[in-house]
Amino acid sequence: MRKLIVGNWKMNGLRQSADALVRGILDGLPVGADVGVALCPPATLLASVADMVRESPVEVGGQDCHPEASGAHTGDIAAPMLADAGARYVIVGHSERRSDHGESDALVRAKAEAALASGLRPIVCIGETAEQRRAGEALAVIKHQLAGSLPAFAQADALVVAYEPVWAIGTGDTATPADVEEVHALIRTALRSAAGDAGSQVPILYGGSVKPANAGELLGTAEVDGALVGGASLKAEDFLGIITAAAALN
Ligand code: 13P
Repeated sequence: MRKLIVGNWKMNGLRQSADALVRGILDGLPVGADVGVALCPPATLLASVADMVRESPVEVGGQDCHPEASGAHTGDIAAPMLADAGARYVIVGHSERRSDHGESDALVRAKAEAALASGLRPIVCIGETAEQRRAGEALAVIKHQLAGSLPAFAQADALVVAYEPVWAIGTGDTATPADVEEVHALIRTALRSAAGDAGSQVPILYGGSVKPANAGELLGTAEVDGALVGGASLKAEDFLGIITAAAALN
């Protein structure tokens, strides 16, 4: 499967810095690399980033969407609005949204279904906390989150899953390749049993302190189809280093 590298800018980026970052990424993209690349800027920058990448292979995504298509929900953003601004993807169920905003698996599933209904590819995030891993509950937690968060499988070909162990996000700690392999294998089995052959085609991304120095090893691990990158996606050089590592595996 073609690797997919997604940059999650989180709550970072003003117009000037975003312009420079996108220009840097576009200028340094390895020529002819068969790697999917998407940028998920904050909503304020989505349309302008989409304009900047229009003639390039780079796509854009939102960081969250509301489960409804429109209505009285001050401050929220609906999936059709993201699509209208030029998005192709939307991250749903990121651990920061689950913890900052108390998002449940059922809400994440509703958001993923709203994304699919608007023609967006939802990137459904799951991952255990340090406490859960220490208690030996990581696999059970992942299974439970998958069962509750994944949308109905009519459109499995549009789905993306991201495994992001909460303790690896923004900490510099990454899961070992053996741990990543174990969790990704479990996710693949769950996808196959829910969606049959289509479940084999769903990209499973790893996220959590991915950087150029560890990208080759993580992306070379079985069933790792790409990366969801936070901090290292805010520096063109680092993000390009991860894309280059992915391209080298083809
Ligand atoms: P870091 O790459 O900064 O650890 O963030 C990972 C992440 O949360 C991407 O969604």
